[in-house]
Amino acid sequence: MKKKAIVTLVLFVILSGLQGCVNVIGQWHYFTDMYYAPSIDAQQIDELSGRNGNILPPEGSVPYGTMPYPHTNLIDSAVAAKTLKMPAGLDYAAIGAQKYAIFCSPCHGIEGKADGFVKKFMPMIVPVAGDGANANGLSAEQIYHIMTVGRGTMLGYGSQIKENDRWAIAQYIKQVLQKPQAK
Ligand code: HEC
Repeated sequence: MKKKAIVTLVLFVILSGLQGCVNVIGQWHYFTDMYYAPSIDAQQIDELSGRNGNILPPEGSVPYGTMPYPHTNLIDSAVAAKTLKMPAGLDYAAIGAQKYAIFCSPCHGIEGKADGFVKKFMPMIVPVAGDGANANGLSAEQIYHIMTVGRGTMLGYGSQIKENDRWAIAQYIKQVLQKPQAK
């Protein structure tokens, strides 16, 4: 009787040890994804199943409401400006003023005279309006280009400010800041 118990115990240990091999050799898995959940990165194609996570947008497609900007900051603003046209009917007095105050005035100053609070940390900031400012000679399109892709030590704001808001800022600089009598 004792002998039988020992044999059973030994058999049990051997069989439980072999259980590990069964998984390696292969078991019947009815819901394979439950046993082997595919873990792939977004948009990566899983080589085994041929499936992918998110589907890539068709080549050349553009997110709704945006147009990719065709120039980099390597191109001169006067050359870029020839390809640009300010949209009509922008609310530059309200939207332009508000966005300018948020995004530009910390450096260029609320009146464009390069007296924003960042100026003391960044002496290379130049005025965008006021007597003798080089930007007085820039068109709205040139200002739009510079603000979109950046210039020199100034980074571009194309990814942070919406297209029409950038146009409104450019027009605000031309129509209000650079023309003090219009205020
Ligand atoms: C972090 C500070 C900073 C902010 C914010 C900033 N700028 Fe500038 N901006 C600069 C500096 C510095 C220059 C000079 C760049 C150079 O030529 O090296 C400059 C140059 C310019 C020029 C060219 C002026 C010229 O004399 O030719 C324009 C136009 C301009 N900025 C517009 C804007 C507008 C519009 C915004 C807001 C969307 C803005 N900037 C936000 C720092 C800033």
